Amino acid sequence: MSTTTKSEKRDPAVPLSRNKHLQRWVDKMAQLTQPAAIHWVDGSREEYDDLCEQMVAAGTFIRLNQDLWPGCFYARSDASDVARVEDRTFICSLAKDNAGPTNNWEPPAEMRRTLKRLFHGCMKGRTMYVLPFSMGPIGSPMSQIGVQLTDSPYVVVNMRIMARIGVPVFAEIDKDFKRVVPCMHSVGMPLADGQKDVVWPCNKEKYIVHFPETREIWSFGSGYGGNALLGKKCFALRIASNIARDEGWMAEHMLIVGVENPAGEKTYVAAAFPSACGKTNFAMLVPPEGFEGWKVWTVGDDIAWIKPDKDGQLRAINPEAGFFGVAPGTSHQTNPNAMASLARNTIFTNVGLTPEGGVWWEGMTNAPPAECLDWQGKKWTPEIAKETGAKAAHPNARFTAPASQCPTIDPAWENPDGVPISAIIFGGRRATTMPLVFQAFNWSSGVYIGATMGSEMTAAAVGTVGKVRRDPMAMLPFCGYHMGDYFRHWLKMQRNLSETPRIFHVNWFRKDKDGRFIWPGFRENMRVLKWIVDRAHGRAKAKETPIGWMPRHEDIEWTGMGFDKASFDELQRFDPQAWRQEVIGHEELFLDLHDHLPPEIIYERELLIARI
Ligand code: GTP
Ligand code: SPV
Ligand code: MN
Repeated sequence: MSTTTKSEKRDPAVPLSRNKHLQRWVDKMAQLTQPAAIHWVDGSREEYDDLCEQMVAAGTFIRLNQDLWPGCFYARSDASDVARVEDRTFICSLAKDNAGPTNNWEPPAEMRRTLKRLFHGCMKGRTMYVLPFSMGPIGSPMSQIGVQLTDSPYVVVNMRIMARIGVPVFAEIDKDFKRVVPCMHSVGMPLADGQKDVVWPCNKEKYIVHFPETREIWSFGSGYGGNALLGKKCFALRIASNIARDEGWMAEHMLIVGVENPAGEKTYVAAAFPSACGKTNFAMLVPPEGFEGWKVWTVGDDIAWIKPDKDGQLRAINPEAGFFGVAPGTSHQTNPNAMASLARNTIFTNVGLTPEGGVWWEGMTNAPPAECLDWQGKKWTPEIAKETGAKAAHPNARFTAPASQCPTIDPAWENPDGVPISAIIFGGRRATTMPLVFQAFNWSSGVYIGATMGSEMTAAAVGTVGKVRRDPMAMLPFCGYHMGDYFRHWLKMQRNLSETPRIFHVNWFRKDKDGRFIWPGFRENMRVLKWIVDRAHGRAKAKETPIGWMPRHEDIEWTGMGFDKASFDELQRFDPQAWRQEVIGHEELFLDLHDHLPPEIIYERELLIARI
């Protein structure tokens, strides 16, 4: 038997990496931002517990009732810091033309001056954390490493769930020359001597800045999600899309699932839906009645890095280690696997807080609690809600949960070589025009369908909710270079493939005349997924239409669900008049991108117009 004594606490100011380059950068940034202390993050459970404890003391975190929600914490953001700020997000490439018209741009030298001013002394009175992270399993040839300097302990604990962090990542950095993406982050609220902190420090002035050529990220003023957890959208999409273009792979806003049929055959599918359009739900789909023996495995719910292997097969990894999921609408009915994932060791932000120390959000249970505190700490009751429309949870309230806690997590989800991708799905939130599902004729028509994707805007970004905007491949806010060049890159990818994945478009959100969803969605989406998988294997039937291949009523498995042919035909209806409008909508985007549009996109558009 061994006796263990609690070892002395390490001094967090002592560097955990021998890399001189990294140490010098940390020193330089500390001189700029002037933190009261430096803390090299080791990523341990004890460190996580200490930081959570410290945030409980500061009021940033509320410890939830541990009998109901073991290991869980609750946070309320500032009311002005609840979503990504797309109009404050910049791609500062050397040439404006490389950022393209869909990104905000400022001359990099000018932006550097602005950032220098903003970051000067911005960490006064706070601790600067040196947070190393690996996007992708540590040591995978597809993984990438970053180091985020941040003055937010909230960011550190969230990043511990969302990425692989700490000592093993420093070891990777120290191994040999490994390129590290430097990520600067500050909430932008220095503390004067003796000044009392607020529970959610942030700054009205926000800057989310990317320098694609030097592969740097600078984020100022926000503590929230995609603005502050820099491994996620900033690195794994905006910077990684640049790296991917240069190296011949793809960084996409996609979930990844493995579909297992009763014979044990497994088919991996990746799907790009815009923010708050159903990726997490689809990634954790539970097959409905009539699908006994089928299983859907979760690889990732938000981001996919996809690369051809030496045989020309596309393979994908999920660069993340957790889910930063939309809470409202998540329930045991709609997504039991998400509910199981977030049952413990989870951080909730901007949901409702019940009197017994639990969490609640709209759609979580059929019956709301008699009362709770809303996401701003105000009293909320169903009566108040009825009168004023007040929501207990902010529509973009989120949970941060470890992926390993998902009951359907795929056994291969951390496979360093990724999983083989057989089909790619695009989908938006569209009340009209777009059918439930159709298949592209080929790769280039599929790229056109992805490129012209439209979706109604959601609460995931500050802006006009409900307005249809073009969101190519669900990457409009996330592509770190010119969108026209991005389409070209997609088209080029096919040349390195021995077999191209089949491409599909889905829409769960078509509405009837009374404004109700025609399709029940959620687990019933399995019926569409089965058709997609069977099509990818060349097994299912379809009919040709002007926009692509479509299933007929009899081509879909309906066991366990009554859905008559008339309703299905309504859902699938191709309306030439609406499609004329749709093509005009495509034009709007193309006008902006015209001088970078690859010829295939022009030809595909002409073919589509000719067919409709
Ligand atoms: P991000 O994390 O922002 O990238 O979002 P996401 O794409 O993962 O979206 P998520 O799965 O969290 O779904 C967002 C919203 O869409 C929730 O309110 C869901 O209830 C709703 N939703 C998801 N799937 C369906 C569906 O099949 N039908 C309908 N009607 N709503 C759905
Ligand atoms: C999204 O908005 O697509 C998200 C949430 O996944 S965030 O991390 O804030 O980007
Ligand atoms: Mn997302």
